[in-house]
Parts: sequence; C-alpha cells; structure tokens
Amino acid sequence: MGNLLGNERKVPELIKQKMPRFLIMSFLPLFFLLFMVAVVSGQDEPISPEEYQSQIGAGFSTNWFKSRARKPMEKFSEKNIKDIREKGFSNLRIRCDAELYSSKGFLDSLTTVVDSCLKYNVIPIISWIHHRAEAYATKKAQDAYVSWWIAVARQLKDKDYRLSFNLFTELGIDTCSEGETEKVKIEKSCKNSLRRNTDKYNEWTKNVTKEIRALGGKNAKRILILASPVKTAKGLDKIDPEIYERDPYMMAEWHLYASGPIKTPGSQKYWSGDGTGKFGGRENVKKAINDAVEFTNKTGMRTYLGAWMPHDNIKGSLKEAEVIKFALFFVKELRKANIPWSMNVLDNYYDTRECKWRRGHQVVAGQKLNMAKILNNIRKVMP
Ligand SMILES: *[C@@H]1O[C@H](CO)[C@@H](O)[C@H](O)[C@H]1NC(C)=O
Ligand SMILES: *[C@@H]1O[C@H](CO)[C@@H](O)[C@H](O)[C@H]1NC(C)=O
Repeated sequence: MGNLLGNERKVPELIKQKMPRFLIMSFLPLFFLLFMVAVVSGQDEPISPEEYQSQIGAGFSTNWFKSRARKPMEKFSEKNIKDIREKGFSNLRIRCDAELYSSKGFLDSLTTVVDSCLKYNVIPIISWIHHRAEAYATKKAQDAYVSWWIAVARQLKDKDYRLSFNLFTELGIDTCSEGETEKVKIEKSCKNSLRRNTDKYNEWTKNVTKEIRALGGKNAKRILILASPVKTAKGLDKIDPEIYERDPYMMAEWHLYASGPIKTPGSQKYWSGDGTGKFGGRENVKKAINDAVEFTNKTGMRTYLGAWMPHDNIKGSLKEAEVIKFALFFVKELRKANIPWSMNVLDNYYDTRECKWRRGHQVVAGQKLNMAKILNNIRKVMP
C-alpha cells in the first residue's frame, strides 16, 4: 500500500508542469483502477512454482499451532505479521499439530492467522505435524491425516493463491515408544514408519494430493509442497514422479540444520570457525544444497527449505562469530540456488505475545548469543 500512495504522489508531480490541474485530477481514478487490476490479478491467477519461490523469499517457522498444550491465539496478534513484513521477511511456515484439530476453534484460529498474513503480503505455508502418526503409519493414521488436510483445505479453499499447503513438517527421526521407557524408545526401530517405507509415503501423498485437488475453490491450482520422504534433499528422488509430473503447481520441501550446525566431526551438519577447516563445514553446506539442485535439474520440481537455524540449539557449541559466519555462508549459497527458506523459529527473534523484536543477549544451550545481531547479519544477505 505504501507503494500505491508513493506512486500516486509521484506521477502527478512529473506531469504537473505540462498539464492543467483538472486533467491531473481526472487521471487519478485511472491510476487507482490500474493499481486495483494489478492487485486483483496478482492474487487471482495461479502462481507458478518459479514465481512462488521468489514470493516465499525469507521467513520464519512459527509455533502458534505447534503444541497442543498452548492456547494458539494467546500469543498471536495481527501486529506480529505487520512487524515481520516491515523487517523484510515474506513468509511464515505455520506448523500445525494435527491433534489440535479436535480442539474447539482450531480452524477459525488458523483462518485468522492466514488472513492476517495475506493482508500484509506474507506468504502463509501451512504444514502438518503428528510424529506418532508418521512413526506407526497405520491405516487409521492415514485416514486421520487425509481427513485433517481435507478439513483445512476445505476451510481455506477460497483464499488466494499465495496460501500453500506443505504436506508434512518433517519426516525426521522416528520415535516409537508405545508402552516403553524413554530409553528404549530411542533405540527401538519404527519399522512401519513413513520414513522407512517410502511406498507408504507415496500412497499417503498420492491420496491426499488428489483429495485436496478435488475440493474446489482455488485448491485445484494452489501450490502444494511435498515433503522429502527422509527430510533431506537426498531423499527427494524417492518421491513417485507420478504424483507431480502432470501437476504444474507442486514443489518439494527439504531441510537440514533444523536445530543448527554442530561441532561433531564427521556429521553432515558439522561447522566450525568460518567453515574452511578440515572437516569441511562449507563443503557440507554445498553438498546438501547440491542434492536439491540436482533433483530440480532432473525433474523440474522446485524446492523450498522449510527449517534451519544458524546456532547449535542443542549443545550450544558454536560461538556467536561462528554462528554469523555459518548463517552468511548458508544464506548466500541458498540464494545462489534460488531456494527460499523459513528459519527456525520466529520466537527466537520476536516475542509474539509482547509484539516486540528481542534485543540483547540470550543464552541458548549455555552459549551467549545476540540474536538481534545474528538476524541483522542474515537480513543483509537474504533474498
Ligand atoms: C483416499 O483414500 C481413501 C481411504 O483409503 C479412499 O476412500 C479414497 O477414495 C482415496 N481417494 C483418492 C482420491 O484416491
Ligand atoms: C543444474 O543445472 C544448471 C543449469 O543447467 C547447471 O549449471 C548446474 O551445474 C546443474 N547442477 C547440478 C547439481 O546438477
């Protein structure tokens, strides 16, 4: 809207000397009309994955609907979205705990957040979370998964094309713990999980994409973002091409560094110093992204990175200067590959309840970090 007012003021300025005032005035409605046509067509035409990548740009993952324990809207305010946009960020990944669906008002609350995003031109990307369902992957879990997406997609079917659906948040580590202690649970393998059974992943995805497409409204040509069957880009080519090869409005999500780089030599998330050391911090980044680029080159499917963090969230092993070096390198490499992203997690940088960007130092896993400074560095190089 700032642009509209700016242009309206500027254009008459330019032609002032040459035109009488009544003529200038008669042009104003025309400018306004042209602007409205531009806005409306921008939302009403389906968006190609290529264009969508540039609209997603840089943004954050969010926690409003992530945990059943919280009341979703207690920490939400429309000002959150306005502030995010003003800081230069253009997407929010709205991660939703599927068990919240049974709670009263979930769909209404979700709609409120989506509407606020669209109002401020922040791309809302809705994603589903249910770790138990992924890990056991029973027929019943599949039905619940598909029903969840049908409920969400039906509720939001007429929202404009900037809204997208990201079918899984993360097919990461399985945790099968039924009737076991915490310790056994980590070791027990989830042999039926989606992650270990890509056939099942493909079946769930095939079914849910068809169901969403059939719901009417704008869902037939809305961007659907498929998940990597094993989280990272390496797994993208396990997706059955039958799902996307005749659908021009699909993309794929993958990620690494969801809880940040670490200093464990040999890990694919290893980073130290400026990343040039012998365990190859920079090489790790390049390799991770290269897998995604290769997939895009081979299939034409464009990708989006749904989760990353610049700091070591678990052990706090990276110092602030290393965190910044990693972030700058990672963001620049993603930018070269044209891959937009959402960073984990908004709440690290912004207090949604107080509607304020966080300032000063925070201690994360024992490491003192100035998150505002880290964010400002990222803003200098982000798309
Ligand atoms: C999806 O799966 C359900 C349950 O298994 C089935 O009834 C439905 O017909 C499937 N939908 C499509 C479009 O294949
Ligand atoms: C992908 O394609 C581009 C353009 O053709 C090429 O420059 C690049 O090397 C390819 N990258 C990979 C990893 O295949």
